[in-house]
Amino acid sequence: TSALNCPEADPAQAAATAAAALRAAFAPGGADPYPALVALRAAAPVHYDEGVGTRFLTRFEDCQAVLADPGFVVPDRSWLVRERPEWLGYPAADFFYSSLLGTNADAHARLRRPLAGAFGVRRVAALTAGVEKLGEELLDRFADATSDGGAADFQELVGYPLPVAVVGELIGVPREEQGQFQRLGRGAARLLEPVRTEDDWARADAAVAELREYFAGLLRERRARPAEDLASALAARPGAAGPALTERESADLLLLVLVAGFETTAGLLGLSVFALLTHPEQLALLRADPALLPGAVEESLRWDGPVLMTERLAAEPVRVGGVPVPAGGSVTTVLGAGNRDPQRYPDPDAFLVRRPDVRVLSFGAGPHYCLGAALARLEGVVLLERLLARFPALGLAGPPVRRDSASLRSFDHLPLVTTG
Ligand code: HEM
Repeated sequence: TSALNCPEADPAQAAATAAAALRAAFAPGGADPYPALVALRAAAPVHYDEGVGTRFLTRFEDCQAVLADPGFVVPDRSWLVRERPEWLGYPAADFFYSSLLGTNADAHARLRRPLAGAFGVRRVAALTAGVEKLGEELLDRFADATSDGGAADFQELVGYPLPVAVVGELIGVPREEQGQFQRLGRGAARLLEPVRTEDDWARADAAVAELREYFAGLLRERRARPAEDLASALAARPGAAGPALTERESADLLLLVLVAGFETTAGLLGLSVFALLTHPEQLALLRADPALLPGAVEESLRWDGPVLMTERLAAEPVRVGGVPVPAGGSVTTVLGAGNRDPQRYPDPDAFLVRRPDVRVLSFGAGPHYCLGAALARLEGVVLLERLLARFPALGLAGPPVRRDSASLRSFDHLPLVTTG
């Protein structure tokens, strides 16, 4: 093992170093948490933080093992009732802790099964033409906005609208109703914060209440007039095999797909463009050989992915990386740190579009593995391909503004110019 992976000899010193690194890594809006995550892994690859009450895992193997192990569960409704009864009045908590991301084992499988078709290889392939068309339209607007040589906000014009439109198309939200979706989706996405403020709850509550009502209406409409979309598939479910979902469960599934699929993908689009523009030699390689595009998207997900971390609870007493975790004990897999583990990737901090054998933790692993991974990759590849083909002189026009979040990495604003 290299010196980097050798925990410091003095445990008290190592714990203090780890605690300082942790604070530095998870400061909201952190432009670059990675040096602090290197320090954290070096001091304590499994680090228990008493304040947050969780063990931070920063090695690739530990993250992968925990996520793939059904002995680790996501916090669910029973956890909510037991540990956070003060949240019981929040509609957003009611939604989240019985949703796909807040259920385990059979309850989780029951909710996940009806979504399989919508995210299968065939359905995603069928969405390709739609993604290309939407991407092209948004890039037309971006071209107009920058045609005078001035800067335009890539996130406002492309990074957010594309995933909203794609999720909208998948679910079956009419185009003209997608505007409000972006606002509501961003409000509901506050639920993905590991530590939620009163303001996060207020925004998520308002968005969840409105979206539940909206999706209930959409499902009623599709039951009467089915189309080729996820809302229609769910509206028709009661006749299908297995215990039927209630109307509330169906509406909440659509809501979860929106929450999970939109801000994350906006993050990928902005982060990948930023990674390329700040690594001109890698951008040149990609421009010279567009066959490198899928690899470049993977490397971007690895180098700086949209989801920095996610939490699990040990169902039974267990050891992780040699450290005991009691039953009910919390662990946090720091995906962004595992993706840069030197044990897994040589020269992990380098951004290399030709890096071989990239298998990212960025979409999670195990029972909750991201349903939209193929769709997100498609959006990334299609958009980057068209963006680079259309704008040979793309450049940063000023400092980007990062999303105010400890766990979701994205840009609120990414000003670009299209003339060198
Ligand atoms: C779950 C990341 C795009 C739908 C997850 C998880 C991660 C993730 C890490 C697992 C969370 C956990 O285990 O706690 C991402 C990233 C994306 C992306 C980085 C973009 C680059 C999408 C898209 C959709 C989507 C486009 C759908 C349109 C979902 C759903 C789940 C999920 C439904 C929950 C699965 C379950 O709990 O069984 N995603 N995601 N995601 N994602 Fe994604």
